[in-house]
Amino acid sequence: MSGYPLWPVVGMWSRWQYPAGRSFYPYRDKIPMAPHTAGRSPEEPFHIAVIVGSLRQESTTRRIADAAIARAPSGMSCQMVDIGNLPHFNQDLEETPPQAWVAFRDRIAEADGTLFFTPEYNRSFPGCLKNAIDIGSRPHGSNLWDGMPAGVVSVTPYASGGMGANHALRQTFVYLNMPAMQQPEAYIALADSLLDADGQVKNETTDTILRTFMQSFADWVHLVRGRALAQAAPWSPTSTAGAP
Ligand SMILES: Cc1cc2nc3c(=O)[nH]c(=O)nc-3n(C[C@H](O)[C@H](O)[C@H](O)COP(=O)(O)O)c2cc1C
Repeated sequence: MSGYPLWPVVGMWSRWQYPAGRSFYPYRDKIPMAPHTAGRSPEEPFHIAVIVGSLRQESTTRRIADAAIARAPSGMSCQMVDIGNLPHFNQDLEETPPQAWVAFRDRIAEADGTLFFTPEYNRSFPGCLKNAIDIGSRPHGSNLWDGMPAGVVSVTPYASGGMGANHALRQTFVYLNMPAMQQPEAYIALADSLLDADGQVKNETTDTILRTFMQSFADWVHLVRGRALAQAAPWSPTSTAGAP
């Protein structure tokens, strides 16, 4: 892998800094195909849960998530998982969980990876997103996030790129044991200016960034799931003769 660290802050980035169509995980053809979640055919696309941390009807974060999903490569099927109807996590409810928690957990359990799109609230990520993460992590011993490949895109109408939210969210992944894609980072700044009234991406740079991010995430999921299941002959960088 080369060309990192990179800060794909849309609006401040030029196209050559974020190479078109080139995955940040170019070894995907060198590892065994991941049979991914047990019981599914390897030919089936990966199932990716997409979680948006804004509940706002006109959310820019959701519109960026839609644009990214539209650019997912074949082999990765993305579904939004709604978190707006989840009752606040309360440990008293663990024995008789609300139906919305159960339905949410079912959706996460069947995912091969999770992509988080988050706005920044007070230099962190919104409470509704933390609530969803907490619900998925419980009851004790049933952490659904354990080993789940994760990706993060932060979105803001301002120039900062939402780095505070992005990194605060990554902090939870440490304890949850979520292998998070490190590169490319995605701090989507000036987000309102990137989409037209119909939610279509207005410029080629944004299109390239979203495509590269989604391709890299697909490869990251492949890598993480493939390695976990290739225990007999673990993948190693030294066995990738011919890799770019
Ligand atoms: C409670 C609150 C706190 C906010 N804090 C930040 C912040 O720390 N950084 C930032 O860039 N924007 C902040 N904003 C502005 C949001 O980026 C803006 O409202 C954005 O449109 C929210 O995302 P959405 O359009 O997906 O709902 C904040 C907004 C709210 C409501």
